Amino acid sequence: MKRVEASKVAALKAELVALLPVGCVKDDESSRETYGHDESDMGNFPSDLVVFATCAADVQAVFRACQQHGVPVTPVAARSGKSGGSLPLHGGIALSLERLNRIVALHPEDLTIDVEPGVITGEVMRAVEAVGLFYPPDPNSWEFCSIGGNIAENAGGPRALKYGVTRDYVLGMDWVLPSGELIRVGKRTIKGVAGYDLAALFVGSEGTLGVATQITLQLIPKPKKVLTALVIFRDVLSAARAVSAVLARGVLPRVLELLDDVSVKAVDGRGFNFPVGTGAALIIEVDGNVEEGLWVELNEASEVCNAHGAIETLMAQDESQREKLWAARRMVSTCLRQMKPFKISEDVVVPRSRIPQAIEAFKAMGQELSLTVATYGHAGDGNLHANILFDGLYERPKVDQALARMMRLTVDLGGTITGEHGVGYAKREFMALEQGEGVLNLQRSLKALFDPAGVMNPGKIFPSQ
Ligand code: LAC
Ligand code: ZN
Repeated sequence: MKRVEASKVAALKAELVALLPVGCVKDDESSRETYGHDESDMGNFPSDLVVFATCAADVQAVFRACQQHGVPVTPVAARSGKSGGSLPLHGGIALSLERLNRIVALHPEDLTIDVEPGVITGEVMRAVEAVGLFYPPDPNSWEFCSIGGNIAENAGGPRALKYGVTRDYVLGMDWVLPSGELIRVGKRTIKGVAGYDLAALFVGSEGTLGVATQITLQLIPKPKKVLTALVIFRDVLSAARAVSAVLARGVLPRVLELLDDVSVKAVDGRGFNFPVGTGAALIIEVDGNVEEGLWVELNEASEVCNAHGAIETLMAQDESQREKLWAARRMVSTCLRQMKPFKISEDVVVPRSRIPQAIEAFKAMGQELSLTVATYGHAGDGNLHANILFDGLYERPKVDQALARMMRLTVDLGGTITGEHGVGYAKREFMALEQGEGVLNLQRSLKALFDPAGVMNPGKIFPSQ
């Protein structure tokens, strides 16, 4: 990967040290390393400088200087991303927004909240729940990821099935363009259709079109009751078939998560014990205000599962049981990582009716190539985390082959290569499988319009040409 020239960085550094508050520009090895990796397992790409913004004006100053000096700048959030979106591939600046971490104002009567990008997602959840409101997007990393990172990748989570993803909750944003200009996009109201939806374009732009420095999020009333069930199956295909059957029956749970045999084994006994003989499981969660109605829905879902071979349905009896089950679910990614030295986590999406076919094909491919494939995730919306676990870099060529086959299979089934982690660096070469040259070129033109110098998070999203 070609890195920016040292002389350009030196000139830029001198300028930024003079412009920004003390302690905001670092170039020690440890900071550069820390901000040079994420959870994608795509390697370490230390930037030349790590810069901390403390306000929108700092971001503007950094972007302007980067344009002038021709130095790449990569926005960095909590580094829990799984597609390499925040890796400073060509060096230059890693711009952290973690110090912009204030909840600016909560407006319970408008059902909105204004926050800065560095606020941890879980903090937003807790703040609004304290006044009876609800921020539904729940990326698995919500205890440490930030709203800014969620916006960059348009993050989703288990509750996306019923409630949608980050973009559905972003009403408006203060946005710094790559030129350094600060604009306000979107609206403060719930409805609004004036002009092109630039806020929607910027959410999910993976740090390639600028960054948000303040965000107005939409909230909804917090459902008063939540019921959670764990449905046990002998094998993953039965569980997968049950997923679309539950939805076809007219029940829309807020969560419908699937765990295959490898995923169950990875978390079993770590605070939560699965019944002996569990070969796969579904977590089904319903919410609303009237408990009796929720029991009817959950029983209906459970009946459908029984018709598809479920061996047992366990209902969480109280909040502590629910929390134990969810803690186990949240640990899947971490525990799979502990099974083998290397792990690649995909987040493909297929039409719901194709879930069993996709899972079967991924498993067969794993067997053929002697690779451990674990599939779990948000099966209710067809979003599967197919993970490839492997022992060493000597296996990488085989893993790359498996990934390419997985993406091709997904697209052939009518699916998409990423449902929530973004394209970033990890999946850019697969974009052409899914999107035609015309569509890719239109997006490249948009990128060039916003960032003619090409310094804003270069090397992401689009296939190399
Ligand atoms: C999860 C992350 C990997 O759902 O998206 O566990
Ligand atoms: Zn996920």
